[in-house]
Amino acid sequence: MRLSVTDRCNLRCQYCMPEEDYLWLPREDILQFEEMDRLVDHFLALGVAKVRLTGGEPLLRRDLPALIERLSGKAAIRDLAMTTNAVLLGPAVHDLKRAGLHRLTISLDTLQRERFITLARFDELARVQAGIDAAVDVFPGFKIDSVVIRGVNDDEMIPLLEFAKARGAEIRFIEYMDVGGATTWSRAQVVSRPQMLDTIGSHYGPVAHLREDSSAPADRYRLPDGTVFGIIASTTEPFCRTCDRSRLTADGLWYLCLYAARGIDLRGPLRGGVSDEALRDLITSVWHARTDRGAEHRLATRDRAPLIPLNVLKRDPHLEMHTRGG
Ligand code: GTP
Ligand code: 5AD
Ligand code: SF4
Repeated sequence: MRLSVTDRCNLRCQYCMPEEDYLWLPREDILQFEEMDRLVDHFLALGVAKVRLTGGEPLLRRDLPALIERLSGKAAIRDLAMTTNAVLLGPAVHDLKRAGLHRLTISLDTLQRERFITLARFDELARVQAGIDAAVDVFPGFKIDSVVIRGVNDDEMIPLLEFAKARGAEIRFIEYMDVGGATTWSRAQVVSRPQMLDTIGSHYGPVAHLREDSSAPADRYRLPDGTVFGIIASTTEPFCRTCDRSRLTADGLWYLCLYAARGIDLRGPLRGGVSDEALRDLITSVWHARTDRGAEHRLATRDRAPLIPLNVLKRDPHLEMHTRGG
């Protein structure tokens, strides 16, 4: 279960928020921690055991450690993780640990200052790197997510791998996805998994595929020196069939797929005071009827272009990746 705690972000990554203006979720719709806590309890009662906090940028949510503390106190959560862009991580990292966060994933697509500004619109690489350095000892073995885009950062796979290795982090290279919000996506900019493996293999020598039986989006590989990295090939080799993720937006809409046209409103029933049983029945029936195959449908689409036309996207923030939390 991925729990988005805010739709706001302090970066504007080209593959996620390339536009000038955004419509934000109405403030009064944003769930209070107490409401998130109650919704999470329903999901835990129905079998969820892994929770990942996402955004937008989750560290923009005021008092986030208080939410983490509530969640980490729940025995049913075996894995409590967070995905962040690390801009605000440095000063927060000890509070996150103290609150009981188990694991951290950090988004990082370039190590070059000018390129970072082009890619994410803000001159924040220095703070991101400070955040990452602060995480090395506090969240050992953390992950780094890099979206690889042709002509933008595809020449940085080796430096990024070395950067991660030097910090004991596991890097995952992600194919550029045509999710809602990626309004400048084009097929030509996607670097496919075989192309990524080619680049890495040419530099390091034979790469071994670690065959694992899991529902995780990343396939993992080992370099001759033992370094492990991952590739998330969601664009060219979708894994919809084994996907077991769902996502709750900061205003309580539940999405079963990144590509789904609409979500299921859980805020309404929650605030409307429906019984716990009715809410759980709703969640169960929706989950059992799930047929989503978003990425597979996209793959089968001819003349693939950005998923959602700009004028439609502009009317509903729920269609955006940054609202759904990835
Ligand atoms: P672990 O909990 O460490 O296994 O993390 P993870 O491998 O599940 O990765 P994470 O949840 O951080 O997701 C990494 C990236 O994979 C996301 O930012 C997306 O780009 C992609 N991704 C995650 N979930 C889905 C999904 O349901 N469908 C698709 N197509 N891509 C996904
Ligand atoms: N393609 C692939 N991954 C994306 N993310 C956001 N937008 C995209 C996209 N268009 C993922 C990245 C980023 C995380 C926050 O969301 O992994 O690191
Ligand atoms: Fe970048 Fe994440 Fe912010 Fe999107 S939500 S703009 S991927 S930092």
